[in-house]
Amino acid sequence: MIPGDIMEKQQIQDALEKLIDPTSQKTLKETKGVKYISVEEDKKTVNLIIALETIEDTIKHKMTREIAKVIKIDLKYHGVKIDFELLKRTDSILAREKKLKYIGIASGKGGVGKSTVAANLALALNRLGKRVAIIDADIYGSSIPTIFDMEVRLPKADENEKIIPFTERNIEIISTEFFMKEDTPLMWRGPMLGKMLNHFFYDVKWHDDLDYVIVDLPPGTGDVAIDIQKLIPECEILIVTTPHASASHVAVKAGFAAKELKHSIIGVIENMSYYKHDDQLIPIFGEGGGKIVADKLTTDLIAQIPIGQPQSGHHSLFDMHEEIGVIYLGLANKLLR
Ligand SMILES: Nc1ncnc2c1ncn2[C@@H]1O[C@H](COP(=O)(O)OP(=O)(O)O)[C@@H](O)[C@H]1O
Ligand SMILES: [Mg+2]
Repeated sequence: MIPGDIMEKQQIQDALEKLIDPTSQKTLKETKGVKYISVEEDKKTVNLIIALETIEDTIKHKMTREIAKVIKIDLKYHGVKIDFELLKRTDSILAREKKLKYIGIASGKGGVGKSTVAANLALALNRLGKRVAIIDADIYGSSIPTIFDMEVRLPKADENEKIIPFTERNIEIISTEFFMKEDTPLMWRGPMLGKMLNHFFYDVKWHDDLDYVIVDLPPGTGDVAIDIQKLIPECEILIVTTPHASASHVAVKAGFAAKELKHSIIGVIENMSYYKHDDQLIPIFGEGGGKIVADKLTTDLIAQIPIGQPQSGHHSLFDMHEEIGVIYLGLANKLLR
C-alpha cells in the first residue's frame, strides 16, 4: 500500500536513527534528531536535516562523516546534503508546554473539499472557544488563502525574524502560497520548498495560547505526510472523501499511509454527501463512499456534509447558524470530546 519512496525514506530513517548524538550520547531515534529526509528525483542524492544537542564544528564534522558512511557506503546513494540545526528550539511551537492538538486533513485526491473542510472546521472550533491556526501545507494546490479571501503576499517578520502569520476571522493562517511568488526571496524557493514545513513549525510567531493547529495536507500519500510524521508524530488525521467509489478507493490508500506512519486516524468525513431538496436527500455523487473508507480503516464516519453554498453569499465559509454550519459545529464538538 505504501509507495516506494516512503519505504525508501523509512529505510534511511531507520539507519540514521542508530547514530549517536555526541553531546547527549543518545541515539537520534531517542532525540528525534532526524528531522527531514528527501531523496532527489534521480534517486541518487539524499537531503537531510539533522538536529543535534550542540553543533560545534568538531561535532558537525564527526556527524557528517558518520552520516555519509550510512548514506553512501551502507545505502549506496551517490551523494548527501546535510543541514544541521539545534535540537532544542525552545521558541518553536513544537517545544511549547501547553499541549497543542494537531489535526491533519488528508484525502486521496484533490477536489474533494479538503481545504473547505479544514477552513470551516477551524471556524467551528473557534466558535466553540478554541484558538485555532491553519497551516496550508498543500504545496501545489494551496487554496486556503483563496477560501479566506486573502491577498497573497509575503508575511512580515518580527525583530527576531519570526514570521508573523496572518489572521482572518480569528484564525491564524500561514500558507505555502505566501512564499511562492516570483518576488519571493531566493532563500524560500527551490530546495527550501521541501523545508517549508519546518519553517512553519519553527519560525512562525504563533499565538501563545493556540489550542489547535489544522494542517491542510496535499492529496495523496507522498512526501509531506512523512515530513509531518517527523515533525509532529502526535498529529491526528481526518480523512475527507466524497461518496463516490473512485474517491473512496484513493482515500483508503491515504488512510493506510497515515496508519503506516503511525498517525492515529480520528475518522472519516464524507463531503458532498447529498443534495437536500424539499427535505429529500439526493445522492448526486453516489452513496456509501465514506462508510466504505471508515470500515476499511476500522474507524468511524464522523460527519456527512451535504452539497451546498453558504447562505451569506460567501463562496466557501459557512455561518455557524445555517444548516451546514451546524454540521461543522457538531464535528468540532466531537473533536473536543
Ligand atoms: N459540500 C460542498 N458543496 C458544494 N461545493 C463544495 C463542497 N465542498 C467543497 N466544495 C467546492 O469544491 C471545490 C473543491 O473544494 P476544495 O476544498 O478546494 O477541495 P480540495 O482541497 O480537496 O482540493 C471548491 O470549489 C469548493 O468550493
Ligand atoms: Mg485544497
